[in-house]
Amino acid sequence: MNAMAPNNTMRAAKRDAYGPPEAISVTRLPVPSPNRGELLVRIHATTVNRTDCANLTARPLVMHLVLGIRTPRQARIGTDFAGEVAAVGTGVTRYRVGDRICGFRDTGLGGQAEYLTIAEDGPVMSIPAGLSDAVAAASLEGAHYAFAFLQRANVQAGQRVLINGGTGAIGSALLQFTAACDAEITVTGPADAAGILYGMGARRVIDYTRQDFTQSAERYDCVFDAVGKSTFGRCRGLLSRTGVYISSEPGPYWQNVGYALLTPLGRGKRVRFPVPYGHEHSFPFIRRHLEAGTFVPLLDERSFTLDGVVEAYRYVLTGRKRGNVILRIGEKDRC
Ligand SMILES: NC(=O)c1ccc[n+]([C@@H]2O[C@H](COP(=O)([O-])OP(=O)(O)OC[C@H]3O[C@@H](n4cnc5c(N)ncnc54)[C@H](OP(=O)(O)O)[C@@H]3O)[C@@H](O)[C@H]2O)c1
Repeated sequence: MNAMAPNNTMRAAKRDAYGPPEAISVTRLPVPSPNRGELLVRIHATTVNRTDCANLTARPLVMHLVLGIRTPRQARIGTDFAGEVAAVGTGVTRYRVGDRICGFRDTGLGGQAEYLTIAEDGPVMSIPAGLSDAVAAASLEGAHYAFAFLQRANVQAGQRVLINGGTGAIGSALLQFTAACDAEITVTGPADAAGILYGMGARRVIDYTRQDFTQSAERYDCVFDAVGKSTFGRCRGLLSRTGVYISSEPGPYWQNVGYALLTPLGRGKRVRFPVPYGHEHSFPFIRRHLEAGTFVPLLDERSFTLDGVVEAYRYVLTGRKRGNVILRIGEKDRC
């Protein structure tokens, strides 16, 4: 190691079995040591997001294949982090002690803790100048998936796009990325968020509690369901002749996966499945938008500390958060 790592213990959230938020405990563990090519990161902020919820509950059931059949292979939880390099392993060349970095991996990094180790060539990037730890942590999960939506639909300037659910982590990032493409965007969301949605680039806002967007007479080149509440069947009529439908969920019968395989064989309306790209593709894209100011992550009014992690998961599982829910970590709260 090139610098002294703190030779003590840390607080970390973990769960030994899949289950509800109550399966989580905050416990003391040894601070990990960075191996060759690894960084030890002191974490200042992380989020509790919908990927964390899937990893906690192992729902959908396919998560058992990814995370461990009967019990999770990794007890520590948390998919993202923002913090600073506290120590480096031998052979590290890209980062130095004190560098501010953030990272995300959908299968988990152990970010809901005071420290983690990560390979310097892993899913990590330096935090753009001027960004707080909270904003850096909030810039990853939803934006990583939104990037996949945008790429799979190949959105062009002037296209007409409908986004169902502009106030989620995915929807709010997708709205801003799509606006940066100069597309003409209609978005659904709760009425009291209309101002936020216009501010992020919407041309028209539909209050989803009062109006069923699928009954609209408008036609769109892309329909993005960023909250996974619609189906291709209900949205088909909204699509232009070669329009594209993408949802954040596989559909009640996983039909979006089948449609995504079959509809490209024809010449008409298509379903695409937003299989995520690797971080080496999404991170430079996200970073460019953060630096250009064309992406400002949406933060929920509520934030939590590590002690409140169970409450934070309960809140996110309601499906009612706005954008990203921050978990502040450590004494040095930079959020
Ligand atoms: N399986 C996975 O690993 C995984 C990972 C990430 C995301 N996802 C899925 O992706 C989706 C989005 O997740 P997210 O974190 O971006 O957002 P989210 O937390 O699901 O979004 C919540 C926001 O969406 C609004 N909303 C709820 N229902 C709506 C509707 N019918 N129409 C329009 N807006 C609605 C809520 O408004 P109110 O204030 O009115 O409640 C709230 O502001 C979810 O379906 C999630 O399960 C899955």
